[in-house]
Amino acid sequence: MDDTPQHSDPDRFRPHAARELGGMFDQVSGRYDLLNRIMTLGQDHAWREAMWRGVPESAHAVLDLCTGSGVSLPGLRRPGRLVIGADVSLGMLERAAERQGRSGWAPRLVGADGFALPLRDHSLDAVTIAFGIRNLRPLADALAELTRVLRPGGTLVVLEATAPAPGPFAPFHRFYLERLVPLAGRMSADATAYAYLSRSIFEFGAGPEFEAGLAAAGFEVTVRRRFMLGATRLWIARRLAATGQKMAHPSALPLQDARAHEQDGVSRPSLPGARSSEWRVWAGVQFLLSAAITVALGQGLAAFGKSAPDLPLPGWQRPAAWLLIVGGLVFFAVRSLLLLLRFLSRTPRA
Ligand SMILES: C[S@@+](CC[C@H](N)C(=O)[O-])C[C@H]1O[C@@H](n2cnc3c(N)ncnc32)[C@H](O)[C@@H]1O
Repeated sequence: MDDTPQHSDPDRFRPHAARELGGMFDQVSGRYDLLNRIMTLGQDHAWREAMWRGVPESAHAVLDLCTGSGVSLPGLRRPGRLVIGADVSLGMLERAAERQGRSGWAPRLVGADGFALPLRDHSLDAVTIAFGIRNLRPLADALAELTRVLRPGGTLVVLEATAPAPGPFAPFHRFYLERLVPLAGRMSADATAYAYLSRSIFEFGAGPEFEAGLAAAGFEVTVRRRFMLGATRLWIARRLAATGQKMAHPSALPLQDARAHEQDGVSRPSLPGARSSEWRVWAGVQFLLSAAITVALGQGLAAFGKSAPDLPLPGWQRPAAWLLIVGGLVFFAVRSLLLLLRFLSRTPRA
């Protein structure tokens, strides 16, 4: 670990705190992808697929802002398209460079602050931001910069973790953000970064606040989706010609929707039939496997409950065994539920 000073929360939450956040993400860049996978229960790839589908195929110049380790970049790759990944953390960009280097493909990686992008006015056709917008404070300034670089009619696709919305799921969602996220963060080089993560999600809100910001900045939301019962949300928005003004010919700007089958008569690309059925079979197989493990762990729990008092387990081994079995049971039960929801959902996502 280097001797970069650890910034306190107030520093990280102040307006335009690019330096502090860059330093924080430098610290956690080593295990960022692993922890991200764990905390999203392995679902983030499917959500990114929805984000990628939100970018029109015709987009020639696409920026992935707050690109981090570049995990969203490969899905944006198209023949003839310029893909730029920008981030303020050089540590994260190094990981992005390693990742893309291995694939033999080289998007442009830029160390840049989202509030002052080194790009000309109206030079982009689309911008994607995954789990990044909530770090850009004040939101209005960040959206103003995106309005500057996006051409009128350009597309903004935002994937973000959101605060609990009122409803029956809210207490679980709150528990997850307040307790489990900081706990998982202990595996990281800077555990305070995960306390920041949790707090920043609450500060970002459940969605309506962000949509108000989009409208004020001159964006029209065309698609909104929720994942994992609203813990993560996706917005696809179009930059209007001027604030409050719709484009004269929206049909000339084909917007590729994350939803496969809309009822509005607009035909949108979806996965080809063969891939779609493969996806469904794969989701079904994963669900069956996960459900089988859940049942096995349930039986294991019952058996362990009966025989635990007689087992010669010293000291910490007994609580550790309980933790392992109960934790595994909860994990696989939740995973089975999510896989079942995915299997039953209308939109192929993998
Ligand atoms: C939670 S990570 C998301 C990374 C990646 N998009 C992903 O989906 O995994 C947020 C990223 O935003 C970057 N970031 C924070 N403030 C920024 C700013 N002002 N300008 C550019 N990037 C910023 C951080 O360095 C970090 O890599």
